[in-house]
Amino acid sequence: MEFSINLTAPEKAAADCLVLPLAGARLPAALARLDERAGGWLGTLAASAEFGDKAGSVLAGLLPIDGAPQKVVLLQLGKDHDLATLRKAFESLARALIQGRSASVAVALPALKGVDSEDVAAAMAQAITFESYRFTQFKSEPEPAPALTSVALLLAKKAEQKAVEEGLARGLAVGHGMNLTRDLGNLPGNVCTPTRLAEEAAQLAERFHLKLTVLEEADMDALGMGSLLSVAKGSTQPPKLIVLEYHGAGDGKKAPKPAVLVGKGITFDSGGISLKPGEGMDEMKYDMCGAATVLGTLRAVCELALPVNVVGVIPTCENMPAGNAVKPGDIVRSMSGQTIEILNTDAEGRLILCDALSYVAKFEPDVVVDIATLTGACIIALGHQTTGLFANDDALADALYSAGQQTGDKAWRLPVWDEYQEQLKSNFADMANIGGRPAGSITAAAFLSRFTRDYRWAHLDIAGTAWKSGAAKGATGRPVPLLVEFLRQRADKKAKK
Ligand code: BES
Ligand code: MN
Ligand code: ZN
Repeated sequence: MEFSINLTAPEKAAADCLVLPLAGARLPAALARLDERAGGWLGTLAASAEFGDKAGSVLAGLLPIDGAPQKVVLLQLGKDHDLATLRKAFESLARALIQGRSASVAVALPALKGVDSEDVAAAMAQAITFESYRFTQFKSEPEPAPALTSVALLLAKKAEQKAVEEGLARGLAVGHGMNLTRDLGNLPGNVCTPTRLAEEAAQLAERFHLKLTVLEEADMDALGMGSLLSVAKGSTQPPKLIVLEYHGAGDGKKAPKPAVLVGKGITFDSGGISLKPGEGMDEMKYDMCGAATVLGTLRAVCELALPVNVVGVIPTCENMPAGNAVKPGDIVRSMSGQTIEILNTDAEGRLILCDALSYVAKFEPDVVVDIATLTGACIIALGHQTTGLFANDDALADALYSAGQQTGDKAWRLPVWDEYQEQLKSNFADMANIGGRPAGSITAAAFLSRFTRDYRWAHLDIAGTAWKSGAAKGATGRPVPLLVEFLRQRADKKAKK
């Protein structure tokens, strides 16, 4: 998709289709000239019952501009719009445009009270980039690509140009990041192996000049990562620990401490010896969406050249049953020295994350955020709307929560209080890897918290939000928007210091 910014009045724009966002039934002054040339029909259309006043309503039609037909799409933003309603309205507009036949559209960006034009442009660019996504690489005869190839954002005032440029860049970067995350998530498990994830990381590293380190099984063994390696044992695919370093805020001794993102990269979760039921098991290819989120977020951060330091860490392997697979009752020693009795081999995410979380201490992180499709219980607690948020630091939890609110990619905090640790008691090792049915997401977080005592840490459980099931099965690209916003705010804070 080509995006451009034009300081052009809507009546002078040259595009297959003119998109006119409206707030209510009355035309803004900026469209008066256009309405005049359309003989007043634009005002009639805008006031029609068919268009209505419901935010997100889209009406396509032909207007006679000086007698010649011009395709227009009206988009209702509603009278009392906040950024959240705008975002939803832009998403329905984007779906309509992608399904439509116009190759080029010009969008008359509205000047709206109480909403930044930077945020408006960002939301528009993100919505169109997101809705243009198709995953067709395994279809012999893919459906034809959308007709739409170019989008011009029309500016009313030159003074808005810089804000709109920045918003456009941000919306595109987040959209591209989400689409990378979706692509990796949607790849089947036989293609998206740990080795493939390492190759994807290498491509990102090359394109954006990141430092890449890939630890192999022997390296992890030497570091004492007995917990991570126990999960990988039953698979013929070799495990990896992928590390990508982005130094947007400088390198060396005086550089700011990084934010470290750790993504769960189980490229297929069969459950292992504690085998999952067959129904819907295909969806466990999505058990690497935490890893995909780390790569997608890094991509966006690089595209925006954010002045922050970020390290992405991806522990990745398959969880498979086999004669040599780890078994219920087995006890393993983690890199931290703590021993774990594996009572259920399907609680494998925490087993790979705990060693990665010990490993990342070497970066002397300012904060560590792990992202994981960790527990089915999180879907029971929060559904598919909301990511589970856990933290050992209130300021960090607040920052992630508000990044979610800002972007509509929402998360809600659950406690990790000490009271829950009791459920992880083991008769034979320092802890068990499961805590029973009550508060399953919290006990999973409580398990991780035993490995994150030396730094500020948060955990995002994306089991419910990383992908959709059913007819619209596919990765969502969440929580890339939340994380990019979180990192952007960190950059902002630095600049203001
Ligand atoms: N990857 C799953 C969690 C999951 C399940 C995410 C369904 C999304 C949809 C994880 O590895 C897992 O199997 N967790 C178990 C933990 C249990 C054995 C304590 C679960 O949630 O059932
Ligand atoms: Mn599992
Ligand atoms: Zn899993």
